[in-house]
Formats: sequence, C-alpha cells, structure tokens
Amino acid sequence: MDAGANTVRLDPLVCDGRTIALRPIRAADADLLIDFHDRLSAHTQYLRFFGPKPRLTAREAQYLATTDFESRFAIVACAQEDSEERIVAVGRFDLAGPTAAEAAIVVRDDYQRKGVGTAIFERLIEIARGRGVAAMSGEILAENDQMIGFLRSKNVSVGAPQAGICRVTTSLETDAVVWRSAQTGGSA
Ligand SMILES: CC(C)(COP(=O)(O)OP(=O)(O)OC[C@H]1O[C@@H](n2cnc3c(N)ncnc32)[C@H](O)[C@@H]1OP(=O)(O)O)[C@@H](O)C(=O)NCCC(=O)NCCS
Repeated sequence: MDAGANTVRLDPLVCDGRTIALRPIRAADADLLIDFHDRLSAHTQYLRFFGPKPRLTAREAQYLATTDFESRFAIVACAQEDSEERIVAVGRFDLAGPTAAEAAIVVRDDYQRKGVGTAIFERLIEIARGRGVAAMSGEILAENDQMIGFLRSKNVSVGAPQAGICRVTTSLETDAVVWRSAQTGGSA
C-alpha cells in the first residue's frame, strides 16, 4: 500500500518545537480523519469542500482514508496531543489519466503558516513525479486567498477565475502553471 510513498523520504518536521510526523494514510485512519475534520474551523471546511461541511460521514472518511498508492495517494501530518496521535494536515492526489493528477491539501487552522502545507506539497510533487505524473491539477474557490497566497509562494502565477472557481494546472516537468476557468477549461 505504501509503494508510492516508499520512494520518497517522509522525514518528520519540527513545528513550534513540536515534532510532526509525515506518513502515508492508512484505512485505519478513518476515525482520525473525522476527528481532524471536526477540529477544522468552519471556514477551512468551507474552503476545502466548497461549501458548508460541518461533518465528515463515516463513509466519506473511509473513502478518503482508503488509498491504494497506485491511483490514489495521500499523506498525513500527525502530532501527539493529549497522548494521542492526531492528524493535523492531509495532502492527496488521485490519478486522472496516465500522466495527470488532481490534488488537494488541508492544514488544521492552528498549524497553518508553519510550513506544514509546504512540506506536504513538496512530498506530493515528489511522489507524483515518481509515478510519472506530468501535470498536477486542482480546483480552488476564487475567494481562497490563503491557497492563492500559498501557490504564489511556490511561484505559481494566478490568473482571473470564472464563476467563482479556479482550476490550476501545474506542469511538473517545467513548473509552468496555467490557470483556467473550471467551466470553460480554456486559458485564462
Ligand atoms: C492553503 C494551505 C494548505 C496552506 O498551508 P500552510 O501550511 O498554512 O502553508 P505554509 O505555512 O507552508 O505557507 C507557505 C507560504 O504560503 C503563503 N501563505 C500561506 N498561507 C497564506 C495566507 N493565509 N495568506 C497569504 N499567503 C499565505 C505564504 O507565502 C507562506 O509563507 P510565509 O508563512 O513564510 O509567509 C492552508 O492554508 C489550508 O489548509 N487552507 C484551507 C484548506 C484549503 O483551502 N485547501 C485548498 C483547497 S483543496
């Protein structure tokens, strides 16, 4: 199951003096994912799911936790809190063709702006490249200033969105990025 991630070093991070472990997600993480989702602010839930999403159902959590590391990949960042392992961030991508993938990242609010998203992003890119992915795509709300700022920090240029949603495609071969309308699929 860990085939994709095994080719990439998932070294721990130190965040405000706390150690954050990175590891491939496991099917047994479904309950941890529900707990993670419960601890996100309503705003972060909204940005991730494009609308109000107060609860993750058991079925959704099981689906998100069950990856095969052949066509669906996910890594989690975990911290020890109150003597328990808790997920504090998740990054994932699903293959969307032989050389294309759709990605998403979410970091718990109290861990944002501490480099966790960057660490996950870099590992996802590395894993994807190792799987022959040439282009990584994703959709974000046009109002998602934090993701836009995050992408800009990775030299991803941001064009004009349409209908409130932007689609971003990043070439993993050239690092060139093209923003397109989610509706038209045409160049912005
Ligand atoms: C977008 C997101 C993944 C970024 O993760 P993060 O761990 O906070 O990002 P990092 O700490 O690695 O930030 C790296 C850089 O990105 C930029 N950035 C991050 N958050 C930003 C924000 N809120 N506003 C502007 N720029 C931001 C900054 O340049 C930052 O560097 P700096 O802190 O040294 O200034 C996180 O904010 C998040 O989970 N948001 C909610 C979920 C979401 O919108 N997901 C995207 C849709 S799938």
